[in-house]
Amino acid sequence: MRRPRDDRRDRGCVLHRHGGEVVTKLRPDRFRQDHTGAPEGDELQQLRVVGLGALGWKVGVGARDDRRRQEAVEKLRAAGADAFGVPLDVTDDASVTAAADLIEKQAGRLDVLVNNAGITGGSPQAPTTVDPETIRATVETNVIGVVRVTNAMLPLLRRSASPRIVNMSSSVGSLTLQSTPGAGTGPIAAAYAPSKSFLNAVTVQYAKELQDTNVLINAACPGFVATDLNGFRGVRTPEQGAATAIRLATLPDDGTTGGFFDDAGVVPW
Ligand SMILES: NC(=O)c1ccc[n+]([C@@H]2O[C@H](COP(=O)([O-])OP(=O)(O)OC[C@H]3O[C@@H](n4cnc5c(N)ncnc54)[C@H](OP(=O)(O)O)[C@@H]3O)[C@@H](O)[C@H]2O)c1
Repeated sequence: MRRPRDDRRDRGCVLHRHGGEVVTKLRPDRFRQDHTGAPEGDELQQLRVVGLGALGWKVGVGARDDRRRQEAVEKLRAAGADAFGVPLDVTDDASVTAAADLIEKQAGRLDVLVNNAGITGGSPQAPTTVDPETIRATVETNVIGVVRVTNAMLPLLRRSASPRIVNMSSSVGSLTLQSTPGAGTGPIAAAYAPSKSFLNAVTVQYAKELQDTNVLINAACPGFVATDLNGFRGVRTPEQGAATAIRLATLPDDGTTGGFFDDAGVVPW
């Protein structure tokens, strides 16, 4: 696997809000290498999208809830981003196919796909008592949803000069950290944490299959960010949480692939 690089280059783009994906159009004239302009208080993925939108990219906002998706699009437009809504339920084949069709109509290609949708599966998740359905549902969204969306979007990504895929993972999926006393990987979670380990493993498999293409695919951990996911108990701002995803979405053509990163660098598997 190639080593990470910090330099970035302009490109078109996209992505989403809840589902975390999307799409595309290059406007290099508006690219800013040192983007810091996301407003405080928005949700993680919205900030992430605002970040890419502020880079001058056309942003598709994937979300399954009509009202929340429209609100997100309007918020992004008010912040100056070129945004459009993409109805998207990552667990539904027909929804994902329709999302790819819409992106093709709106943009013609996809430069960046950010697979951001994720669920914790709720609690408690002690492995000795967890409902198997909790594990099944969590994997369906956090892993199979990523595979479903990625494969549906790949034909559009292949039309890009520099396609990038970012899978939103978590350090709780690190087996190394989970087995390191005091590493601070949160509560016992037999569904959520393994789903992110699974996602990391799938990310590596994609990187291996795509190694001779121009597609770069990596996993990102945003850190412990205050969002709905954790009842806003997170200690990082959405803007801080978005930074690694934005970096991986804007990797240069000789950038890394098949890696797992947070703001501090490489996260151990
Ligand atoms: N926050 C953290 O501290 C943290 C730490 C490590 C990793 N992460 C990861 O970062 C990503 C974003 O999480 P977040 O903190 O921003 O949490 P969040 O605010 O709960 O956002 C997750 C979003 O995923 C969407 N979603 C769930 N199932 C979906 C489906 N089937 N189809 C489409 N969208 C779906 C939800 O949409 P609805 O509004 O429709 O429910 C929700 O808005 C997740 O993958 C999460 O695992 C977060």
